Amino acid sequence: MPTIRVNIPSAPHDLVIEPGALESLGDHLRAVAPHDRALLAMDENISETHGARARASLRRGGYAVSEVLLRADERQKSLDAVRSIYDALLANHFDRGSPVIAMGGGIVGDTAGYAAATYLRGVPLIHVPTTLLAMVDASIGGKTGVNYEIPGGQLGKNLIGAFHQPRLVVADPLVLGTLHDRHFKCGMAECIKHGMIADQDLLDDIGRDHARILAREVGALLALIERSARIKISIVERDEHEEGERALLNLGHTFAHAIESMPSLHLKHGEAVAIGLVAACSCAMQTRRIDPLWAEEVAGVIRACLLRVRLPRAAPLTALVHAMQFDKKARAGRLRLVLPVARGRCEIVDDVPKEVIESAWREVGAT
Ligand SMILES: NC(=O)c1ccc[n+]([C@@H]2O[C@H](COP(=O)([O-])OP(=O)(O)OC[C@H]3O[C@@H](n4cnc5c(N)ncnc54)[C@H](O)[C@@H]3O)[C@@H](O)[C@H]2O)c1
Repeated sequence: MPTIRVNIPSAPHDLVIEPGALESLGDHLRAVAPHDRALLAMDENISETHGARARASLRRGGYAVSEVLLRADERQKSLDAVRSIYDALLANHFDRGSPVIAMGGGIVGDTAGYAAATYLRGVPLIHVPTTLLAMVDASIGGKTGVNYEIPGGQLGKNLIGAFHQPRLVVADPLVLGTLHDRHFKCGMAECIKHGMIADQDLLDDIGRDHARILAREVGALLALIERSARIKISIVERDEHEEGERALLNLGHTFAHAIESMPSLHLKHGEAVAIGLVAACSCAMQTRRIDPLWAEEVAGVIRACLLRVRLPRAAPLTALVHAMQFDKKARAGRLRLVLPVARGRCEIVDDVPKEVIESAWREVGAT
């Protein structure tokens, strides 16, 4: 059973990756947040399939369990959802030592995480990620938050938030068996991204083992989750608050956010990231940072994972370029892009020429 120590100076903790870990959730929790009660904030879609095992284990661990069910929908990743968690915490007289367990994908993790960060100025948070993306990405690094409607009606993603490190992360790969293929593949896009940022061997192995991973063979999943999570962990250990290196994790994301801003494309975040990775490779190739052969290899791995490398239909280039300016990473009107510079290595680049960006968009199908 791999247990990875997350050595964040302010709040070191463990990430447990273990098939069947849900059965011992109560014991794990008792070791880091002993108390007589706990709040389980859970994705409503998994309440029947996986919730019972978590509840039973927490009760065996000596916790009286209160529960809030949350809907995994970006519109519900809101201050209203946070309020429903505050209400449950208050109704059950939770104090500063009572733990909040966020069980679900990134939406539940971010929402319940923010409630835990702010209730009584912070209570113990335990992440139980149930999507691949949440296991290798969202549950690591302490970012919590919700979306907020900008005056005018547009939904501002993750505009309200706080850093709040968990006391523990418990990932049980067996829960991925019920995850929809489309959501599973979104997690694969983030694993590919991690390989591109820091571990060419991981990228090669995803290319080789894609069939076993997509079939969700437990051994293949364990290796993928551990290796991919380690990359994010090592980056956030060195740069917890995104003052430098952590920005590398945004590889492909500036393109992806522009794609996501077009609802007519009907793409999920991970699907948009996959196309964003191809666009970032194109920028790197045009500016002679990487060779075309490697860019083709990356696209091959993305395709092998049944993810798109081009937009599903043509989208207006000018609108996509415009949408990139609204990315949170744009500074003083200048776009900062993360670009690959070698196999398994990326850098933050401040001034990518506009023509290069436009040509990258064309390469992925914008017109
Ligand atoms: N905090 C961070 O550092 C961070 C990093 C990346 C992404 N995020 C956030 O994560 C969110 C996306 O999270 P996500 O990709 O995990 O998806 P999600 O939370 O939207 O869940 C995707 C779908 O899978 C369902 N689901 C979850 N676990 C399941 C299971 N085991 N079996 C069956 N269905 C299951 C959910 O109900 C939902 O329908 C975004 O809001 C994003 O902003 C946060």
